[in-house]
Amino acid sequence: MAQQESLPFFPIIVERGEGPYLVDEHGRRYLDFAESINVLGFGHPQLIRAISTQAARLVHYTSMLAWNRPCLSLSKRLASLTGIPRARVAFTSTGSEANELLLDHLLEKGDVIALRGAYHGLLTWTSFITLGREHPNIHQIPPGPAGLHEARRLFREENISGVIVETLMVHAGIVPLGEDFLRELRDLAHDNAAVFVVDEVYTGMGKTGSLFSYQRLGFRPDAVTLGKSIGGGLPLGGIVYDSGVVELTRAPGGTSTSQGANTTACAAGNALLDILEEEQIPNRVLEMEPEIGRLLEEHLDVIGAREARGRGFIWGLDTGDPGVARAAVERALERGVLVSTMGHRDEVVRLAPPLVVGLEEWRKAISSLARHT
Ligand SMILES: Cc1ncc(COP(=O)(O)O)c(C=O)c1O
Repeated sequence: MAQQESLPFFPIIVERGEGPYLVDEHGRRYLDFAESINVLGFGHPQLIRAISTQAARLVHYTSMLAWNRPCLSLSKRLASLTGIPRARVAFTSTGSEANELLLDHLLEKGDVIALRGAYHGLLTWTSFITLGREHPNIHQIPPGPAGLHEARRLFREENISGVIVETLMVHAGIVPLGEDFLRELRDLAHDNAAVFVVDEVYTGMGKTGSLFSYQRLGFRPDAVTLGKSIGGGLPLGGIVYDSGVVELTRAPGGTSTSQGANTTACAAGNALLDILEEEQIPNRVLEMEPEIGRLLEEHLDVIGAREARGRGFIWGLDTGDPGVARAAVERALERGVLVSTMGHRDEVVRLAPPLVVGLEEWRKAISSLARHT
């Protein structure tokens, strides 16, 4: 028990949520700028209603045996919203499983190019990439011009079946990748009949100022993987793919998963899409981005950071020093704000709140990191 209690990042036991606030078991409130699943904050009435109504009707019946409306409707909507032609959807329970299933398929056909430092999960194939381990059929290139050079060589010399990227590398320390780099890599993949995959597990559902992060960057992938937020807080992941270039049912594991399209999680996903659209949340995030960037720049010195990087509502303050980042996180915690660290050495303070907060909450979170108030 003592061991278990030392595991989580924050030394608190959370009991309930109220909008962007978490309340611990002693009644202390924390503004949450740390989590990545609950894009609507906690307890959005419309979302809770959708979950309760579906749970009362049918919590889950596996889509391996019979269809259900929430799952059919969510897959139709995701297919259309991604803009992927001939789109089909395969649901999983997590983002890692979605990436794993797609990589399984791509590696059956040839080699895969991934970005060095990317996070795609910690299962079999995904952990080779996430942990930077060598695999003869998985080639990891650095993001940027040197990576493009390496990709061109790989396409000349190897049989590459797919390329997988994040558009903003969160675990690598909040590194937004340039449009030109991503587009060139996508074009290289297309010129060589390889499948171009964007992992939207973290960045999807409006967090970078468009429903899917690639949509504001002006290109379209052949497949996207989803997870984290798409189940409105319930476990749900998925792949939306162009069935003209990817045939997932023929992948080694097929798409079989008993809980993959959990009925209640799909109902929550539909409600989430309704709310994002009705409240125009991605657009609101996009509009606030310049002011957030400005506020962060203004506070670099008092926080002890040297650079602010991000898009939409995912920002990192690079301190260059894990000790400085950790101290900032601890100051924020004492002041009732939850933020966490990212980057290979945990040297970057990450600010990633639910998308319902306003500039007032951003100001509060940023000033909670300051060395003096
Ligand atoms: C970009 C990205 N891909 C995949 C995953 C794995 O998703 P999950 O934790 O749902 O398995 C994560 C998790 O942090 C992620 O950030």
